[in-house]
Amino acid sequence: MIAKQAGHSAGLFISFEGGEGAGKSTQLCHLAAILRKAGHEIVTTREPGGTPLAEAIRALLLTHEAASQEAMTQALLFAAARRDHVERVIRPALARGAIVLCDRFADSTRAYQGGTIAPDDLETIIRLATGGLEPHLTILLDVPVAAGLARARKRAAMADTFEQAAESFHEGVRMRFLTLAQENPARIHVFDAQAEVDDLARDILARLAAQLPRVRMGDA
Ligand code: TYD
Repeated sequence: MIAKQAGHSAGLFISFEGGEGAGKSTQLCHLAAILRKAGHEIVTTREPGGTPLAEAIRALLLTHEAASQEAMTQALLFAAARRDHVERVIRPALARGAIVLCDRFADSTRAYQGGTIAPDDLETIIRLATGGLEPHLTILLDVPVAAGLARARKRAAMADTFEQAAESFHEGVRMRFLTLAQENPARIHVFDAQAEVDDLARDILARLAAQLPRVRMGDA
């Protein structure tokens, strides 16, 4: 059993972050399988999304032309989706003692919307959406922009709103993620997303064991 965390709940909240094509979903699924085998209740989820309402907002955000999305409107839509997700899925799961593995969370707003929205406004919007909930641990998968975009484009037939953005936008996203990691060294841990998939999975597991020794790992 995981001890009660100050401020929120008995469970554990882990987010996966990174630019396009960083391989977050693969690593998230791998970690979920290992922790399930060790006997934990695992909830895997994603942002934007994770509830019917938030998935509907996701569809709006990812299929509309970037040019048609005014920056603050876009940031508020991400926040509205997050609020629903936090209230209906993440907090209840944490209250039950589950481990929540989330593909993207508020750091994505800081990295992707941070180029157009002032930091204070961004933190206000994030706080309204999350009620102050932050992940206990964030796995940041860092990949050079060109390599990540090439991977993402190979995977999807059609680029979504953000994949279509210029490389300079994605360079800004990458730099903001790395700056966040420097500013939050206890929470955000950076991994080289170009490492071999199995090696990367092993490194992530080792870091999790070191950071959160109360989590049972089983014999994987
Ligand atoms: P997704 O298909 O989940 O991207 P990926 O496969 O790279 O994880 O699409 C989510 C997109 O939304 C992604 O380009 C990042 C962007 N995004 C934001 O701009 N702000 C946010 O707060 C979140 C959660 C995502």
